[in-house]
Amino acid sequence: MTEGTKKPFIVREIRQEFPALRQLIYNKNLIYFDNGATSQKPQVVLDAINMYYSKDNANIHRGVHFMSQQATTEYEKARVTIQNYIHAKKSEEIIFTKGTTDGINLVAFSFGELLSEGDEILITAMEHHSNIVPWQMLCQRKNLTLRVAPINKKGELIIEEFDKLLNSKTKLVAVTHISNTLGTINPVKELAVKAHAVGAKILVDGAQSIQHMPIDVVDLNCDFFVFSGHKVFGPTGIGVLYGKEALLDKMPPYQGGGDMISRVTFEHTTYNELPFKFEAGTPHIAGGICLGKAFEFLSELDMDAVQKYEKELAEYAQDMLDTFEGLAIIGEAKKKTSVVSFVVEGIHPFDIGTLLDKQGIAVRTGHHCTQPLMDFFQIPGTVRASFAFYNTREEVDIFIAAVEKSINMLK
Ligand code: ALA
Repeated sequence: MTEGTKKPFIVREIRQEFPALRQLIYNKNLIYFDNGATSQKPQVVLDAINMYYSKDNANIHRGVHFMSQQATTEYEKARVTIQNYIHAKKSEEIIFTKGTTDGINLVAFSFGELLSEGDEILITAMEHHSNIVPWQMLCQRKNLTLRVAPINKKGELIIEEFDKLLNSKTKLVAVTHISNTLGTINPVKELAVKAHAVGAKILVDGAQSIQHMPIDVVDLNCDFFVFSGHKVFGPTGIGVLYGKEALLDKMPPYQGGGDMISRVTFEHTTYNELPFKFEAGTPHIAGGICLGKAFEFLSELDMDAVQKYEKELAEYAQDMLDTFEGLAIIGEAKKKTSVVSFVVEGIHPFDIGTLLDKQGIAVRTGHHCTQPLMDFFQIPGTVRASFAFYNTREEVDIFIAAVEKSINMLK
């Protein structure tokens, strides 16, 4: 396939690429609606894992032997694939991490070193714990203030309140692109303009967006963008921090060790250039290479078509669930996608999730690592169906019938 050409988006054909979707669970065809937690892997990624460990396995960088050079080439090729996919200007701006949480902790530690007492960090009320706790820890460490922009009952950020909290002391805005619990799409491009107007930087948590929409970090003009490999059809234990080169250059290393150094003596150490300055120790080599394969796979898809399809699928599910008596949708933002969370009066989410499981349907129940959001809605948790492009309307129909059956059994 030549560069720029996209495969027509045909769900039936895409599904064939994902072996895990073909299995029976309790003798029923699996319906996998837990994509917000992790996605299934296409055959090209599975083959690449097998290929790496059965042939190319060697440590990267500074190896003169064939296998080391082969592994290094593949690992660095993956970096460039990811750079191109998110339209970063340079491959040096792509830092391999363990995942979203690791990327945010890296920024909290390293960018945090540039901050001083009295500075402020602004987050939103719909953040995942991984975009709350590292900032709390930083605030404690450096005596900073954490501000939280509130949301409305639909699960939308209240922009006027955000504006009020943003001020010249704000040094970083850290915001989720898409809420993992609500599906709300935040206007991150607009928030970046606002942040920059007061001299703040902006970190976008892309853990729930990169698999659902085209991403262009230059167009968004975000300073940092973080995501996890396993939610974007790659392996666990690998992720990416994108950062603007000039900013990453100013930031001190996060961890010390091999690969991140230029010269070490007992008296003094100088650090390696980007991106290696932030990649101490042997990385998840297979993870990086296979994440590159996942992005090669995605590069062939028309992500605009994917986005439209997933939005329609989620709306279809939500509209049908909304007709059930006693069921409340949690998260009714005007701009949302890919996630439908709900609660049913008098029934614990866990019980519905358990009965759905027995019908071969994988959903997630609980607080989804967003306890402050649960407190805001005054609920213990939700049942969450989260979709990927390989899900179908037929699966949604079966899911809706199964939810109805579960509710009737639990009433
Ligand atoms: N953060 C992941 C989720 O939303 C685990 O399910």
